[in-house]
Amino acid sequence: MTTEPRTILVTGGTGLLGSHIAVRLLADGHRILLLARGRPRQSARVRVDNLLDWFGVPQSLRSKLKVLDGNLDHPGLDLHGRDRQMVTEEAEETIHCASDTSFSTRKRQHVERTNIRGLEHLLDVLQGGACRGFHLISTAYTAGKRSGSCPEDFAPAVAFHNVYEETKHRAEHLAKLRCAQNRIVLTVHRPSIVYGDSVTGRTFLFNALYYPVRTLHFFSKLYGRDIREQDGAKARAMGVTMDPDETLHLPLRIAGSESHGINLIPVDHFIRAFMAIRADAPQGGVFHIVNPDNITIGRLVDYTRRFFRLKGLRTAVPDDFIDSPRNGLELLFENHIQAYGSYMQDNRIFENAKSEAILHRHGITCPAFTYDVFATCMRYAVDVDWGRSPEPHAAIRTDGKRQPFSPETQPDEARNEVAAGYRNA
Ligand SMILES: NC(=O)c1ccc[n+]([C@@H]2O[C@H](COP(=O)([O-])OP(=O)(O)OC[C@H]3O[C@@H](n4cnc5c(N)ncnc54)[C@H](OP(=O)(O)O)[C@@H]3O)[C@@H](O)[C@H]2O)c1
Repeated sequence: MTTEPRTILVTGGTGLLGSHIAVRLLADGHRILLLARGRPRQSARVRVDNLLDWFGVPQSLRSKLKVLDGNLDHPGLDLHGRDRQMVTEEAEETIHCASDTSFSTRKRQHVERTNIRGLEHLLDVLQGGACRGFHLISTAYTAGKRSGSCPEDFAPAVAFHNVYEETKHRAEHLAKLRCAQNRIVLTVHRPSIVYGDSVTGRTFLFNALYYPVRTLHFFSKLYGRDIREQDGAKARAMGVTMDPDETLHLPLRIAGSESHGINLIPVDHFIRAFMAIRADAPQGGVFHIVNPDNITIGRLVDYTRRFFRLKGLRTAVPDDFIDSPRNGLELLFENHIQAYGSYMQDNRIFENAKSEAILHRHGITCPAFTYDVFATCMRYAVDVDWGRSPEPHAAIRTDGKRQPFSPETQPDEARNEVAAGYRNA
């Protein structure tokens, strides 16, 4: 693929992956048309500006980024005529990151509207225009309930764990058909589960990996405070105790086996891999961006125990729960993380020969998920109160000025279901 500066449309500009991709392409000299939605009290432009501050993007680069206030859910993306025309006539390449990432069945209509009809609306706007390359950010979990090897290619439908997986699978096939009809080269990127930056821990999306860890952190704060500051009745009811040195015991078994695990990649790896595939696969295709090694739940439990100085946490195999049914704390935990169950107990193997060949040529390997990486990410998460507080240290922008930053001036609860789950606990 040419390295000449291009005009590139990026959707999901306020999302984790869309913003990282846009900032990287901007730094590489491209002109970016960024599709983003406004909020009732925050315009799309302000939301994007806050994010550019978060990334420390210098003012000199910002003139090459045009924010398009639009919504996938509506025909024409709800764009003004002028903006719609600009997308059709000027976007030479499109990177489609926007998606409704809810797993909830009761949100089916909404998820379908964004992930299927929204894609149609986008492709309608691009039809007959300048766009010659379309990158669809999909997910490795379009594999659904397959077990064992999952092909790095379009695959027939299977049963799915949730409406998100199903609609992402359908979107891949829709994009394949429509791009072929319009002679647009389609590249499907399928990341597994993305967490923060492996070096700095930074992120502004605290879902997936963060969810169960945050739940345990929440339990430890809740029961720790109850024992220290109240009469400890809540803690006693859950069998939670505290040592004289204030180490907390959470009597909590977490289902997990050595043969199953969770597939995690840091956001910095995702960006490097995406850029390499974009550069080296001009013919398009389907690419898994995954970690060659699943992380076992045992390792995650061990890291969590060490980081939060907790005792009592351990993994257990399903038979253990037959012999000794779940206690109150275990039921509460399971209830909280139910939606993520299939991703934590994974024995799927995502074939990656095609993507690995490209990454190998670029000297890119997925950073190992060591305790140090985990601790860096969780320290950051705790410092920013899982996305509710601004960063404690001022950001150093590339123009040398310091400025406090936060991705949103208000916590982005709509996108981050974690927060909502918490307040209900
Ligand atoms: N993060 C992961 O672990 C992961 C893993 C595998 C695949 N993926 C895929 O990667 C892509 C990006 O995910 P992400 O992690 O960046 O998610 P994210 O942070 O939740 O971002 C989703 C983006 O989509 C936008 N969006 C949703 N509905 C829209 C609509 N109707 N019109 C316009 N924009 C809309 C959101 O806008 P608002 O901010 O206005 O809501 C947000 O900018 C998604 O396609 C996802 O399926 C992500």
